[in-house]
Amino acid sequence: MKIRAAKVKDVKEIHKIVEYYADNKEMLHRSLNAIYENIQEFIVMENKGKIIACGALHVSWEDLAEIKALAVNKEYARHGLGSQLVHQLEKNAKTLGVEKVFALSFKPKFFKKLGYKIIKKESLPQKIWGECINCHLFPDCGEVPLQLSLRKR
Ligand SMILES: CC(C)(COP(=O)(O)OP(=O)(O)OC[C@H]1O[C@@H](n2cnc3c(N)ncnc32)[C@H](O)[C@@H]1OP(=O)(O)O)[C@@H](O)C(=O)NCCC(=O)NCCS
Repeated sequence: MKIRAAKVKDVKEIHKIVEYYADNKEMLHRSLNAIYENIQEFIVMENKGKIIACGALHVSWEDLAEIKALAVNKEYARHGLGSQLVHQLEKNAKTLGVEKVFALSFKPKFFKKLGYKIIKKESLPQKIWGECINCHLFPDCGEVPLQLSLRKR
């Protein structure tokens, strides 16, 4: 298994993993178009040529980036792959000079185990919540905002 930057040819497999969870209301839907347009933000985990997990890092502001579209193929769940992807995205954030990463998640326990702290949504830049207005789950999506400081790492 290896983690690498995503390529355009991975988009359909990424979409399939994300849609599985979105259909189960465990994460938000993401169109093929949105994945193509943001493919440079994605990393994937590959096993024998098959994409088994994905995640993305989206820079929001000078000191802040969001971990997005994190998903592990159900067959490979609870083997530490999600944690490995988060750590890689945190490294990528550090390389970019970003000091804090956050996630909006229906699975706060997963992120808490990785050291993330629940924060108030109001502490995130307003533009992040501004985007929520366009989501069909607005205003009661149930996503929990969590954040981690990368300064000491
Ligand atoms: C959340 C997700 C990425 C975790 O991936 P994973 O590879 O299974 O996670 P890990 O094996 O690294 O888990 C590390 C720890 O997080 C916690 N954890 C993981 N999945 C969890 C879940 N579904 N519910 C509660 N805690 C969870 C556990 O404490 C786990 O440790 P343990 O297995 O020793 O108890 C995966 O379940 C997934 O794709 N979920 C659907 C999409 C999603 O919720 N994405 C996150 C928000 S963008």
